[in-house]
Amino acid sequence: MGVTFEKKRKIFHLFTKHFSYYIHVNKYNYLIHLYSGKYLNDISKERVSERYMERYAFLNDEKKETMDEDYYFSFVASQFEVAPFGKGDKRNSPFIIEGENNTPITNFLFQSYKIIKGPYSKNKYPLPHVKFLSSDVTTLIITLKDEYKEVYLELYYEISEKFDCLIRFSKIINKSSENIKVKKLSSFELDLPSSNYNILALKGTWGNDTEVEMIPLNHSLTKISDNHGGRGFYFNPSVALVSNEASLDSGEVYGFSSIYSSDFSYEFKVDEIDQTRIIGGYNEETFEYLLKENEDIYSFETIIVYSNKGINGMSQLMHNLIRKRILPSTKSIQKDFILLNSWEGFYFDFDTDKIISLVDEAKKCDINLVVIDDGWFKNRNTDTTSLGDWEVDNKKIDLKKVINYAKNLGMKIGLWVEPEMISPISDLFKEHPEYALIPEDYKHPTLFRHQLVLDLTNPKVIDYIFNKISKIFDEYDISYVKWDFNRYLTESYSSFLSTERKKETNYRFILGTYELLNRFNKKYPNILLETCSAGGGRFDLGMLFYSPQIWASDETDITLRASIQYSKNIFYPLRSIGAHVSNRKIGSIQDKACLAFFGTFGYELDITKLNEEDKKQIKFFNSLFKDFHHVVEDGDYYAIFSPFKTNYVAWNVVSKNKKECLVYFMNYKKEQTKSRFLKIKGLAPNKYYFNSLTSDIYKGSFYMNVGLNLSCPMDPYFSALFVLKEIDDIRATIFRKTKQVDGGKRDKLM
Ligand code: GLA
Repeated sequence: MGVTFEKKRKIFHLFTKHFSYYIHVNKYNYLIHLYSGKYLNDISKERVSERYMERYAFLNDEKKETMDEDYYFSFVASQFEVAPFGKGDKRNSPFIIEGENNTPITNFLFQSYKIIKGPYSKNKYPLPHVKFLSSDVTTLIITLKDEYKEVYLELYYEISEKFDCLIRFSKIINKSSENIKVKKLSSFELDLPSSNYNILALKGTWGNDTEVEMIPLNHSLTKISDNHGGRGFYFNPSVALVSNEASLDSGEVYGFSSIYSSDFSYEFKVDEIDQTRIIGGYNEETFEYLLKENEDIYSFETIIVYSNKGINGMSQLMHNLIRKRILPSTKSIQKDFILLNSWEGFYFDFDTDKIISLVDEAKKCDINLVVIDDGWFKNRNTDTTSLGDWEVDNKKIDLKKVINYAKNLGMKIGLWVEPEMISPISDLFKEHPEYALIPEDYKHPTLFRHQLVLDLTNPKVIDYIFNKISKIFDEYDISYVKWDFNRYLTESYSSFLSTERKKETNYRFILGTYELLNRFNKKYPNILLETCSAGGGRFDLGMLFYSPQIWASDETDITLRASIQYSKNIFYPLRSIGAHVSNRKIGSIQDKACLAFFGTFGYELDITKLNEEDKKQIKFFNSLFKDFHHVVEDGDYYAIFSPFKTNYVAWNVVSKNKKECLVYFMNYKKEQTKSRFLKIKGLAPNKYYFNSLTSDIYKGSFYMNVGLNLSCPMDPYFSALFVLKEIDDIRATIFRKTKQVDGGKRDKLM
């Protein structure tokens, strides 16, 4: 049981083997956060809560001052689980509700609790979520009621021993007869007694989609958020709080990842006595929700993990959970495909013959899926037209012929779509201009990439667009779909929604997107789905709930790609990161394949133009994919060199049984001879491993403590992928005696 309640002292303890989370219900029914961190089997509510600040005082029913005797409870500095709004705590608050009297004072007080074995039932939960099995978790539900309004707050805590994590979300229910505006709704608040941390955030822009940014905490409010309504490169919804003493492999790290694809926010506020408050939830900038009598609304879920094994420990906890309980299991067909996408090879310039010649060449190179990217539908020869008109452009491509041709070779065909969009130059816009997301009487909506967004707050639009794209997948035998989203929301106040609900547009839009994705998966369980948003602009767990992989970036040049993948690896399992070998300038096919191998792996170039040597390399990597990609898909990930701190980028992935390990290394700029060792992580210290790069055998402890000697001069972008494979003691001893001559003449490594 991962939750206990100590009745006398009113203390909840949520725990796993490594993690404890303590909450206390104080005598005024405030929920006080006592502790979260390394597992702890003893707690004092007094000693933990003491803050020598102004004591809580108020006018009682007799209009007399009541001063709190318990000096340790102070609005100024107590650690809350749900800080009130509009009262004495002037730090940030997680919930703000406003009644018809326009008074947003929000003061939720403890009422009752429930502990259930297994997860909270998600039958009515409208958003993507962790799909726990009943043996994975224990759930604590705490119900609070606002001091004056008949409005209730339910806090949910799903604590999982198995995955060593805590899932947080909440719900507000209006049981009063007045209309309530929910102005701020969060998944969690976490108050920590120190400010000794940096925020690790992933920021980015198109083409440099994710870069690690370490932001020191300070006394001003730091907000890591997005307000684009989806396709937000600016900040990713996964962040970590890294203690100042922590490194990649040691020290305290709290990881947070929100299962949401629209406007989120994490607030980090250091208070006047250097404590830190973290609040995660909908971004209040673009969120307001009307609750009529008996209506309710949920927050999205946020995963919280705690590691005292540094950033890598946090990454492994996230990866395990996401792989097993978020990615769609029905779509586990990823491993069956090695893909070749037409975009960077042809852009819009293709026809039946060109695609067929691509299929032919792909077959020769052991590639089994060819994806026809943008440009296959009605008049779509540039990005200025036709979104919404999802009908094959028969003049340009004979899709049936292509599919049959591929089928005869034992191959499959995939297609690109962008269902949430509408081009002003399209039949759809002519027929249904009201389907576009434009406010009433608003004449000059903003265009991005020449396109508008469909109003997915309107169920009719969802039906229309789903039927339209379904016709394609019903008629043509398609095995893979790339689902794109190339612009963000502007002027997003839907003309379909009533006046009082206009500010719900961004939230309802993403519900519409999820509805579309859900319908698609239900109807086409055998089509592999990859989402995309102008590259990796919507890379989050909301999308990964529906699609097992996301195209990580439109930047395929290894120089930026390596740091983009390194950054994404911190939170997201490598198998979810769409990565292709392209024709960009920097590096050879081999250099590019080394990097793409640590994502979904595929190609995106005109392979008919490659020379024989490059095609040989492609075949080699495709056979490596069959033999070893399972390590990337399911193994434990360790970052070794950060591209943001060193001239290199390196990581390794070890299979769960520690028998196989894949290592990636690249250097950025030319370097001369220099003492440089690549220390591998996570091997079994006493087992022998064969190293495919140097063809010799040493024990795990050698690779981990001495490392691989890379002290030679290096050209820029030198890239390596090598395999360490466990080998039994007898074979290792024979090999070392006969072949491995320590002290003899040795070849230079590179
Ligand atoms: C986006 C995607 C690309 C490609 C184009 C097609 O930019 O990120 O990979 O599919 O759209 O228009």
